[in-house]
Amino acid sequence: MARRILTGYRPTGKLHLGNLHGNLKGMIELQEEAECYFFIADWHALTTDYGDPSRLREYTEGMVLDWLAAGIDPAKAAIYRQSDLPEVAEFQLYLSMITPLGWLERVPSFKEQLEQLEGKDISTHGFLGYPVLQAADILIVRADGVPVGEDQLPHLELTREIVRRFNYIYGETFGEPQSLLSRSPRIPGVDGRKMSKSYGNFISLTDPPDEIKKKVLSMITDPARRTRKDPGDPEKCSAYQLHKVYTQDRLDEVAENCTTAGWGCVECKGILAERVVDSLLPFQERRRELESRPGYAWEVMEQGLARAKPLAQEVLGDVRARMGIE
Ligand code: TRP
Ligand code: SF4
Repeated sequence: MARRILTGYRPTGKLHLGNLHGNLKGMIELQEEAECYFFIADWHALTTDYGDPSRLREYTEGMVLDWLAAGIDPAKAAIYRQSDLPEVAEFQLYLSMITPLGWLERVPSFKEQLEQLEGKDISTHGFLGYPVLQAADILIVRADGVPVGEDQLPHLELTREIVRRFNYIYGETFGEPQSLLSRSPRIPGVDGRKMSKSYGNFISLTDPPDEIKKKVLSMITDPARRTRKDPGDPEKCSAYQLHKVYTQDRLDEVAENCTTAGWGCVECKGILAERVVDSLLPFQERRRELESRPGYAWEVMEQGLARAKPLAQEVLGDVRARMGIE
């Protein structure tokens, strides 16, 4: 059982259902049983979006409010902004000295993103070093568990490689952090692909009810149901994947009405939309309440920083001593 947990989110916009089920729910559970550090990775956002930082502050604040409204408790978890902890940047510099270039060039997301983010020039030092910065985030508090999505596993592996190399060169200093993968089913976006910010197929936690309804009704269904009378196979339908999360108590009924063409897809998705809207109402109400308290997110980050700082200073002191910078 992990004792000290850390995870970070890049502030690139609003949180969506994929984030909630993929990661956030796990974080909310972990804060009850472990020491938690949850931070906003604004430096990481700059590695790809340095060209337009105009909304970075707004996104940072919004993401903290999303966390709090969803149930992250600032009395339990330390919430802070990465750039408020400059110890991380200095630590990253030390780690960069011992990280071979080849390791970074081999990280799958490096090559993929270079190709995918065509409009942006990310053939930069900062972007190549993304996983080194991430290792510094994790090791600066000596986290032993890191809740992440599958896409982050190579970064965690690299962190462990850096730990082994550091310990080998300078003596046993860090333990190897483990990744904690969510157990929840994959959440499909409206187009049937994985729900993701970059695909633009997401339902935000803050979407107004009519927007959520519109999005759910536009979800891809089993193509075999060309007309109202054609029976379908729920397993081939992305709306059904969401039903598994939101309509668990009536799942047999949903499947039955799909395979017998008892319901049309519009009816079926209407039921789903209502469930999604209802489940988000308490979140949205809390979110509005938090928004009405100006500066609250920043106060929370200040408190969280005060908890992370002494630990970061201690770890950095240790690293400096081992690397001859005293
Ligand atoms: N790379 C993560 C992402 O894109 C964000 C992140 C930065 C992170 N530092 C981290 C996640 C440290 C876990 C631990 O989602
Ligand atoms: Fe999907 Fe429901 Fe249509 Fe079946 S009836 S294809 S489960 S939306």
